[in-house]
Amino acid sequence: MRGVNVSPARPVVLRDRQPRDLPTLTRWLTDPQAEWRRWDAPYFAAAATNKTMRAYAQYLAQNGPDADERVIDVDGVCVGMVNRSEEEPVGGGWWDLGILIYDPAAWGAGTGTRALRLWVADTFEWTNAHVVTVSTWSGNERMIRAARRVGFRECARVREAYAVRGQRFDSVKLDLLRAEWEAR
Ligand SMILES: CC(C)(COP(=O)(O)OP(=O)(O)OC[C@H]1O[C@@H](n2cnc3c(N)ncnc32)[C@H](O)[C@@H]1OP(=O)(O)O)[C@@H](O)C(=O)NCCC(=O)NCCS
Repeated sequence: MRGVNVSPARPVVLRDRQPRDLPTLTRWLTDPQAEWRRWDAPYFAAAATNKTMRAYAQYLAQNGPDADERVIDVDGVCVGMVNRSEEEPVGGGWWDLGILIYDPAAWGAGTGTRALRLWVADTFEWTNAHVVTVSTWSGNERMIRAARRVGFRECARVREAYAVRGQRFDSVKLDLLRAEWEAR
């Protein structure tokens, strides 16, 4: 996937993970130097993230696709993944959404915004979600802006909660109600 060029005109779809995606997924997930690690929860210790990612890649290799985790596909190529998890209590109607595009060469071309929009639509269609959230940190401007563009608004901020590369950043949560989504 290195050097992939995702122009705004190229179609973005969410689809089930397929065996042919595994080499791409494994390579990006298990690369400790991958640029995405500097943006996706970089406040966790690298060693712990390495371990989690290796276990996750193994899980993906051994398990079929899951409705709560889909591949972001551009022109038939896996460029990342979206996922969601239900906050407790189960059945309470609050789902947290995640998104990751692996290759920095593919960032900033609108793919994340479009994938997140599709993921919100999918979540409201296929789950009981009353509200969805995105959880990030104040250094991740691309994530915050993509979420705002889709219709999320900031609902919580813990100031200076995280240390990243010697600087303090806020924990930021954004939310979007089903009613707001349907009114758009
Ligand atoms: C966060 C992520 C999903 C966003 O997807 P993307 O395709 O890069 O983002 P988009 O191109 O849709 O742009 C989103 C917004 O960020 C802005 N943006 C683009 N490049 C930027 C940059 N270098 N700095 C700040 N904002 C930037 C865009 O202008 C856009 O805002 P706008 O609609 O107000 O103009 C993607 O960058 C990514 O996967 N990053 C690494 C992993 C990660 O951070 N995941 C989220 C963890 S919470």
